[in-house]
This record gives sequence, C-alpha cells and structure tokens, in this order.
Amino acid sequence: MGKLTIQLPDVQYDVHIGEHAYDLFSSDYKSLLDIADRVGIIADKQAADLHLSVLLDALENAGVSPSIKIVPSGEKCKTAQVFFECQSYLVKENFTRNSLLIAFGGGACGDLTGFVAATFMRGIKFVQCPTTILAHDSAVGGKTAINLPEGKNMVGSFHQPSVVLFNTKLLTTLPTREIRSGMAELIKHAFISDAVWAEQLLEEKGFINPTEQWLSRELLKGIQVKATIVAEDEFEHSTRKFLNFGHTFGHAVEAVCGFGGLSHGESIMIGMAYSFILSERHGKVDASFTDRFIRFARKNGYSFAPVLEHTFDSFLEFMVKDKKAAFGEMNFVILESLGKPFVKKVTAEECEQVFLDLQKRIEMGE
Ligand SMILES: NC(=O)c1ccc[n+]([C@@H]2O[C@H](COP(=O)([O-])OP(=O)(O)OC[C@H]3O[C@@H](n4cnc5c(N)ncnc54)[C@H](O)[C@@H]3O)[C@@H](O)[C@H]2O)c1
Ligand SMILES: [Zn+2]
Repeated sequence: MGKLTIQLPDVQYDVHIGEHAYDLFSSDYKSLLDIADRVGIIADKQAADLHLSVLLDALENAGVSPSIKIVPSGEKCKTAQVFFECQSYLVKENFTRNSLLIAFGGGACGDLTGFVAATFMRGIKFVQCPTTILAHDSAVGGKTAINLPEGKNMVGSFHQPSVVLFNTKLLTTLPTREIRSGMAELIKHAFISDAVWAEQLLEEKGFINPTEQWLSRELLKGIQVKATIVAEDEFEHSTRKFLNFGHTFGHAVEAVCGFGGLSHGESIMIGMAYSFILSERHGKVDASFTDRFIRFARKNGYSFAPVLEHTFDSFLEFMVKDKKAAFGEMNFVILESLGKPFVKKVTAEECEQVFLDLQKRIEMGE
C-alpha cells in the first residue's frame, strides 16, 4: 500500500492508497473513530449502490455503526439544498462538535462533505474515502465547496481532512468517461512537475485502460505533486495556482457545454491543449508537442468538438467570470517547458488568437 504525508504549517495528515486502505480503520485510525461520539457517512448514491458495503464492513470490523446520508450522485450533490439537508440530518442524528464525517464518493461528494464538515457547528473532523480517479486530486489539499446557480464552487472553505483512505479496488467500476476525466488531472500533475514522467504517460498504451497496480503507483505520484504544492502554498497565494493548468479555458469549456456535457477532466484536456499553445508563445514548448498532445488525447477518446462547435465569445463570457480573472485580463498557467509552470496575465485579444489557432490545429489533425 502506498502512503504519503501532507505536511502543512498547522496540521499534517496521511494519504493511504491501495486495495487494503480501509483495513486501517481497525488499526492506525481506530482511535480517530473511538474519540468521535458519532460517525456519519455522506455517500454518493452511485458509489454507495456499488461499494458502500466495503466501507461498512471495514467500519463494522472497527466496532462502528455509522449514520448514513446518501446524496445524489455526482455534481447534483453540490447544491445549497443538499448541503442544508446534510446539516439537518446531522442535527437529527445528534451529531456534536466531537463527531466525525466520512466522505464516500468522487470529487463532488468529497467537496460537499468537506464543506458540511467545515461548517457544521463551526467545523468537525472528516475523512476522505475517494472512489474516483479524479478524487486523487480533489480529496487532498482541503478545498471544499458547493455550487451556486451562478457558478461552480462559489461557496466553500479550506478544511483539511484527518486522513485520506483511497481504496483503489473501487475504481474498477468507473465508466470510461470517468476514467478519462481522472486521467486528465493525473497527466496535468505530470505536465506541471516532471518532463520525464509526462513523456512516460504520453507513451502509455493503457492510459485509459490502466491496471490497478499501475494506477495506484501513478496516482501516488500525482498526489505527491499536489502534496508538495499544497505544503508550499496551502491557501493558493502562489504556487498552488499551478494546479490550475488547463483550467482557465477548461472551466469555460465545461460551462459552455453545460455542466454534464463533458466531464471536468475531459474539459481540462481541451484547456491543456489551449495552454500548450500559450506555452508556445510565452515559453519554449514546441508546436509539434502541442500537436502530439492533441493526437494523444484523441487516440484516448477525448473530444475537441466543443472548440469547433462554439464561438470564442461564448467561452470568453465564462473566462472573464472565472475566479482567476481580473480587469479584463485572464490569468493562465503556462509552461516554460514541460514541468516548469508559471502564471501569466493574457489579454482577451490574445486569448482569441490562441482560440483560433487551436481551432486550426484541431481541424488539421482530423
Ligand atoms: N477540492 C478540490 O481540490 C477539487 C479538485 C478537483 C476537482 N474537484 C471537484 O471534483 C468534482 C469532480 O469529481 P469526480 O470527477 O470524482 O466526479 P463526481 O464526484 O461527480 O463523480 C463522477 C461520477 O462517478 C460516479 N462514481 C463515483 N465513484 C464511482 C465508482 N467507484 N464506480 C462507478 N461510478 C462511480 C458518481 O456517482 C458520478 O456519477 C467536481 O465537482 C470538481 O469541482 C475538487
Ligand atoms: Zn480540475
């Protein structure tokens, strides 16, 4: 089983990854359960239908019978309504400041549960039990949030989990689309940190058909990148912004396609292609690398269709609303070279030129 420690100025916690991660509830984390007066699980409906019994068995072995709140699967759980339903549920179940919550699901359920834990009685402890590949990213680092009709992740806080237990056995039921989504964030971690690793992933035949063993190892590397960055900059004043590589344009793609049109990671893959073109202009990334990246993405089933189907203005509308935008200029994470990110302000005019270039490159590659 893989393990690493997230070291922050005020707290530290461990991430354990492997098929026996939940066994640790009966050993290393028995005392965390024992000091809690109540233990509750907030579980994604789909993840619960498929796998909740695995978590419940592990908790039973540790002598715990938790309260269980099932929430709608995926992004549908990150609403104010579901948030308050969870809070009321905890009150009804007599939870106190000494209670513990467990998030069981993908990034959406993790974000929701983290925010419930951050705010219930001004904050209680919680454990992340991620069930998607993408959640190797979201479960670590303490960002929690729900959405507003006006925008994604608009209400949230920083609240670190007590531990992250990542049972990789549960990933075998993920639909291909969700594998694609998570793998996009994994390769993002490589692009912003390590040229050799990025090259290895670009050559990987089983990129969206990974074996459990390979995946556990790679996810640990991804978490290590996130851990290092979060340790340096917990509250995103500087280097944590690098984790947004591909996200400024990617979030706009996600929004234009209507949340649910393309998955988060599928949108970020398009956003990374866009950022590589910016990196040709402001860094030393070769145009042939961008084209190779687009071919790699296509070969693995990622779609670039939204870039051809929508106008630049429809994306711009969302880019200016992005939390990273200010005064008509958008902040982009750009690569000097593979593994060497920096942040740069880009004007709307240049954004449009890059967009038109991306359209051309996609058409050329068809
Ligand atoms: N907090 C952070 O730092 C951070 C970072 C990145 C993303 N996020 C958030 O994460 C969310 C995306 O997370 P996600 O990609 O995990 O998506 P998700 O949580 O929406 O889950 C995707 C789908 O997979 C299903 N699912 C979950 N586990 C499954 C399993 N084992 N087998 C089969 N199906 C399963 C879910 O029911 C859902 O339908 C977004 O809301 C995004 O904002 C947060
Ligand atoms: Zn992301």
